Amino acid sequence: MLYGKVIQDVLLAEVAEATETMLATGSAPPHLSVVLVGDDPASQIYVRSKTRKCEAMGFGSETIIMDSESSTDKVLATVQDLNRNPRVDGILVQLPLPDHCDQQAILDAIDPDKDVDGFHPCNTGLLAQGRPQFVPATPAGIIEMLHREKIEISGKHAVVIGRSDIVGKPMAMLLLHRHATVTICHSRTPDLAVVSRNADILVTAVGRPGLVTREYVKPGATVIDVGINRVSDREQLENLLGDAADWKLYDERGYLVVGDVRPDVAAVAGALTPVPGGVGPLTIGMLLVHTLRAARRRRGRAM
Ligand code: GUN
Repeated sequence: MLYGKVIQDVLLAEVAEATETMLATGSAPPHLSVVLVGDDPASQIYVRSKTRKCEAMGFGSETIIMDSESSTDKVLATVQDLNRNPRVDGILVQLPLPDHCDQQAILDAIDPDKDVDGFHPCNTGLLAQGRPQFVPATPAGIIEMLHREKIEISGKHAVVIGRSDIVGKPMAMLLLHRHATVTICHSRTPDLAVVSRNADILVTAVGRPGLVTREYVKPGATVIDVGINRVSDREQLENLLGDAADWKLYDERGYLVVGDVRPDVAAVAGALTPVPGGVGPLTIGMLLVHTLRAARRRRGRAM
């Protein structure tokens, strides 16, 4: 099993050391501002864990909570304030935004030098050209994990299931730049199992609980599960998890979190990221790495 927490601990130790060095020169600590629009409970949990980790690292952080009815213009004004604020190094607008908000316009408004999520078209373009500045945290974390676990990418066949701007597309780019042969699959790909069974490295980010069964996986392949699916149907959970289900937790919460990959794939795969505990912690670790990088670049420029 590939546990993201182990890599997160290593990343955070490196971030803590670099931050100490920065503070020793009399520099202000890195500062991350998070914008949360609305009251989606999952987003609230993600944002809290991001800002808590910032605080643990000695970073400055703030969460700007906006009413779910906030207009696009109001959110844009908040982003522009943060762009202008010299104290702010990184800006993260938590997704998804409420339906009435123009998500693209809001992400486009973030200063590319403060875009620690890597969602601005400037950063997307730089990544496509193979000269990345800020890369979305989840795929960046996956590359970091493969690198630190010494899993070869060059010359391998990587299959990415999902084509989102947050995970699928940047993941494919990063693997391509590391000399993998990359296939991107999506909801209209015929014979998905046949294609994915060719993968040495299989990454799934679609949000379909248990989509990937043993038939999808070549023996020995590395399987990275980015799916985070809350499932409350007990029968579905029994079918997906069998004896591995934590029914005590289920009774407390009324749901369990499962990935896109069935856990019994572990018997076929060479390595598998569990859900939860696999990719999730990497995303937060990389966000802090990116916030530190933004702060260093900005301090360097100011000096
Ligand atoms: N929602 C789910 N994942 C992410 C992420 O990586 N960044 C932001 N801003 N929102 C998200």
